[in-house]
Amino acid sequence: MIQSTLHVAIIMDGNGRWAERRGLPRLAGHRSGERALRRTTVAAARCGVGTLTVYAFSADNWKRPASEVRGLMMLLETHLAKEAAECRANGVRLSVIGRRDRIPEGARLAIQEAERLTQHGSQLHLRLAVDYSSRDALVAASGKCLASDVDRGAFAAHLDSPDVDLLIRTGGEKRLSDFLLWECAYAELYFTPVLWPDFNEDDLRAALSDFQKRQRRFGGLPETSDSVPHLGIRAGA
Ligand code: IPE
Ligand code: IPE
Ligand code: MG
Repeated sequence: MIQSTLHVAIIMDGNGRWAERRGLPRLAGHRSGERALRRTTVAAARCGVGTLTVYAFSADNWKRPASEVRGLMMLLETHLAKEAAECRANGVRLSVIGRRDRIPEGARLAIQEAERLTQHGSQLHLRLAVDYSSRDALVAASGKCLASDVDRGAFAAHLDSPDVDLLIRTGGEKRLSDFLLWECAYAELYFTPVLWPDFNEDDLRAALSDFQKRQRRFGGLPETSDSVPHLGIRAGA
């Protein structure tokens, strides 16, 4: 059972621009982005994050050239095969959200195996969003709700995805790109120009430190100071 309820979501954007600036193929940016994900997972566990949901491939990313999509799916497969044992050793439970039926078989089997191997992880829940569309997830959840039992709680249970506390988007764009629309209803938003392959533990700590200074109200009156989570995060600490 994971202790921390803090849910951080990251739109890992900027791989292509990182590569282009170096005169490298876009796939080199994605490979470097994979290393950033590994770093960030370790850092998130150290910072007391309970759930980390990262946007790895959107349902709209199928529109990209076939060679880039193929490269991304290969990278997903090798990443999972390499990382599953490491995650298990570090108490990281890994799971994948999004559609499975369009994922190539090799990557699909790697997902299943990584989820099986790490299912008892109790330090951090790392959720990888692959072939993910929040609109599709909302449509699917509403399809599971009987007309008579629809209320927020029942709907959220069908969605099976916790509310986000802090949403980080790297790469400078300020949009959600169909990511966790329901879950971000009261998320604190943090946009950084840092390109995802350059993102490191200091950047995560800076975002968490900024988050700690926010006053969350959820439509009510300002919270008392003791209801704001204290994580002991200091930028650059
Ligand atoms: C994010 O980086 C990774 C995926 C969407 C798969 P991009 O590939 O979107 O990088 P930019 O936005 O073109 O720089
Ligand atoms: C969002 O980034 C998806 C991922 C980071 C996986 P995109 O680069 O696909 O988003 P847009 O097209 O700029 O909105
Ligand atoms: Mg992008």
